[in-house]
Amino acid sequence: MLTTQQMQEEILRLKKEKDFCILAHAYQTHDIVEIADFVGDSFGLSQQAQNAPQQNILMCGVRFMAETAKILSPNKRVILSHPNAGCPMAEQLTLDELKALREQYPDHAVVAYINTTSALKTLCDVCVTSASALKIVKQIPQKKIIFIPDCNLGAWIAEQVPEKEFVFIEGGCPIHTRITEKDVLRAREQHPNALLLVHPECVAEVTRHADFAGSTTAIMSYVAKSDAKEFVIGTDNSIVSHLSFDFPDKKFYKLSKICVCHDMRLTTLADVYNCLNDNGGEEIVLDGQTRKGAKRCIDNMLAYGG
Ligand code: 13P
Ligand code: SF4
Repeated sequence: MLTTQQMQEEILRLKKEKDFCILAHAYQTHDIVEIADFVGDSFGLSQQAQNAPQQNILMCGVRFMAETAKILSPNKRVILSHPNAGCPMAEQLTLDELKALREQYPDHAVVAYINTTSALKTLCDVCVTSASALKIVKQIPQKKIIFIPDCNLGAWIAEQVPEKEFVFIEGGCPIHTRITEKDVLRAREQHPNALLLVHPECVAEVTRHADFAGSTTAIMSYVAKSDAKEFVIGTDNSIVSHLSFDFPDKKFYKLSKICVCHDMRLTTLADVYNCLNDNGGEEIVLDGQTRKGAKRCIDNMLAYGG
């Protein structure tokens, strides 16, 4: 039986020997973050992997992230660290439901959050990330937009782009929507000097109180640049632990104790070790039509500077 440190050392040796680039979404645990080549938000990781010299990519995250990596790097082998790690929100809408929406609103552009399956992306006009959504929605020529699948991220954008009309579906991230306005009021009372930083996947009643709303990496960069000493964090609680490691002279508090994405927690350090030994994970295979259709949606985002 290996200790954590021995397993990490073995992983670092194996990834070199087997030509792997390891990607870790920022919601992964610290032991995985420590052995990753890149740590970051969902789309940034796939872009890093595209430019990396390795022929094999191990995505420690959830399925749509591994699919995005495969779309950008079709000639590389992409492995998802745990076959059951999915983002429930990415699958909230079926292809038939999206087709029906398109028929109901034929003059609307369909904007897809990156947290969607590659199959859904084939039916959309443009992708957005939480970091780029505002910029892209402002630029697209259509005034009317169907925004899928996150109605909370969508509402956050809509409030800042009042000149456009939006259609949303019900749903959202089952983890971020656990955070309530009551949590905000309690945190403000307990930590009156702390800044409140939240992910825009939170509900409007929470986001409207925030000092800053942004993607996982935007939240971390905000802390790095801020002179403030205390922060309440409204996103997956792994970010509180990473920030505490990175900024030991600052204080970080969880906005909600139950903001934990269990899909992100499925991957363990032992899974990473097993994947590198060809003994776990799942290789992502996309048919040519799906890959091309989904890539068009991502390329459109990049064309708008996303
Ligand atoms: P980021 O793009 O901010 O990393 O968000 C991905 C995600 O799933 C947040 O819940
Ligand atoms: Fe999906 Fe929410 Fe988990 Fe992010 S936190 S991967 S949006 S379920």
